[in-house]
Amino acid sequence: MRIVQGDITKLTVDAIVNAANQVMLGGGGVDGAIHRAAGRELYEACLKVPEVRPGVRCPTGEARITPGFKLPAKFVIHTVGPVYRDGEHGEPEKLANCYRNSLALAAESGCRSIAFPCISTGVYGYPIEDAAEIAVREAGAFLKAHDIEVVFCCFSEYDARIFEKLLQGVK
Ligand code: APR
Repeated sequence: MRIVQGDITKLTVDAIVNAANQVMLGGGGVDGAIHRAAGRELYEACLKVPEVRPGVRCPTGEARITPGFKLPAKFVIHTVGPVYRDGEHGEPEKLANCYRNSLALAAESGCRSIAFPCISTGVYGYPIEDAAEIAVREAGAFLKAHDIEVVFCCFSEYDARIFEKLLQGVK
């Protein structure tokens, strides 16, 4: 596991994870940045992902994979984090599922490396300290049985420092 601070669309890893919404046709934040960098073909690939119910291609906690198109990354793994309310409405479990399902999908797709943004900690309001703890815990558990490089791509230095502190504890 390692931490980088910067723009996830620039990372040369096999898969970058997109903090998407359930419609999975783009948005703001990292979702917007990934769609802008990947180009229109990403939108078209998302459009082809079947809806599981009207307006939902990727339910919260699940993950879907598409090619990366113009991105340096081969794949984009779209996952939908929970909207944070108060931590008492299943948010921790749903966020943990985002990491578990994205890692499983990356491994199934033969990825040797994967980069995560700080899922749900922007528009969806998840406190970064709690979200980072879940991210590091789930990646650590997955790495006990799999060999894949996990990169936490933090947009801000503040977030990167939180992950660094957690990784000190894990080493
Ligand atoms: N690279 C890496 N991280 C980024 C980038 C980028 N280019 N742009 C933003 N981030 C960071 C944010 O600073 C935040 O730490 O990604 C984290 C997640 O924030 P959001 O992108 O707002 O995602 P989220 O909180 O999961 O909300 C998802 O926002 O953009 C919409 O369509 C998206 O509806 C969905 C919702």
